Amino acid sequence: FGRRMQYQECVPSTQLLAHEWAKEGAEEGSLVITEEQTDGKGRMNRIWHSPPHSGIWMSLVLRPPIPVTEAPQLTLMASVAVTRTLRRETGLDVTIKWPNDLLVGGKKICGILTELRGEQDRVQYVVLGIGINVNVTPDFLPKELESIATSLAIEGGRTFQRPLLIAAILKELEEVYEGYLDHGFEPIRILWEEAAGMLGRIITAQTPEGPRRGEAVGLASSGALLLKTEEGTLPVYSSDIQI
Ligand code: BTN
Repeated sequence: FGRRMQYQECVPSTQLLAHEWAKEGAEEGSLVITEEQTDGKGRMNRIWHSPPHSGIWMSLVLRPPIPVTEAPQLTLMASVAVTRTLRRETGLDVTIKWPNDLLVGGKKICGILTELRGEQDRVQYVVLGIGINVNVTPDFLPKELESIATSLAIEGGRTFQRPLLIAAILKELEEVYEGYLDHGFEPIRILWEEAAGMLGRIITAQTPEGPRRGEAVGLASSGALLLKTEEGTLPVYSSDIQI
C-alpha cells in the first residue's frame, strides 16, 4: 500500500481526492495523504478536525472482490490493523469502540471512514479514510471536543514520528487485508474481539428502531456488533453507541 501516492500540503479532504482518483482508475493501495484538511469529513456528515503538521490524514483506494453487503467488514479490518500498529509503536493502551473509533483512556484518537462505490451488488472500489491525532496539542482541539478527543502525544507525554507510524500502519494494513482476502472475515473477527476494549460492557445503541441497551458480547460474521438484551441477542448494524 502507498506505492502510488499523492501528497499535498493542504487539501479540503483526502477522501474527495481519493474518490476522484479511484474513478480515474487508481490501482489498489493508492494513497492520498496531506498535512492539513480544510474540510475533513467524519462519519454521519460530521466535521473531522485536521490541524496542520500534527496528524495522519490519509485515504487509501481498495478494490476488494466482495459483495457490497460485506463492505462493513473493511472498517473492522482497518480498525484491527491500526490498533495493533499503534499499540506496538506507541505502547499506549489503544482500544476499539465499535465500529470504527480508536480510543485511549476512553477518548478518541483515531477515526476510520469507509466509503464505497458499488456496481450492481459488487464493490467497485472503497475509499478507506484514516484520521489519527498524533501530535495534536490541546490548544488545537476545539473546546467541545476536549472531553471526548485526545492525541497520542497528549496521552503518551511525547511526540511521535508520523512517517514511521504511517509506514508501519500501511504495512500492517496490507498484511491484514491480504489475510482477509485469502481467509475471509473470521480471523479478523477474532483479532477484533481481542483488540476491542468493549466486550462485556453495557452499552446503549441508537438503532433505527430506537435505543437498545445491553451487553456487548461479540462480533457477528457480518461485522455487526452483538448486543445481549432482555429480548435476546441482537445484531447492531449501524448506529451510534454510548458506553
Ligand atoms: C470518524 O470517526 O467520524 C471518521 C473520521 C475519518 C477522518 C479521516 S482523515 C482522512 C480522511 N479524509 C477525510 O476527510 N476524512 C478521513
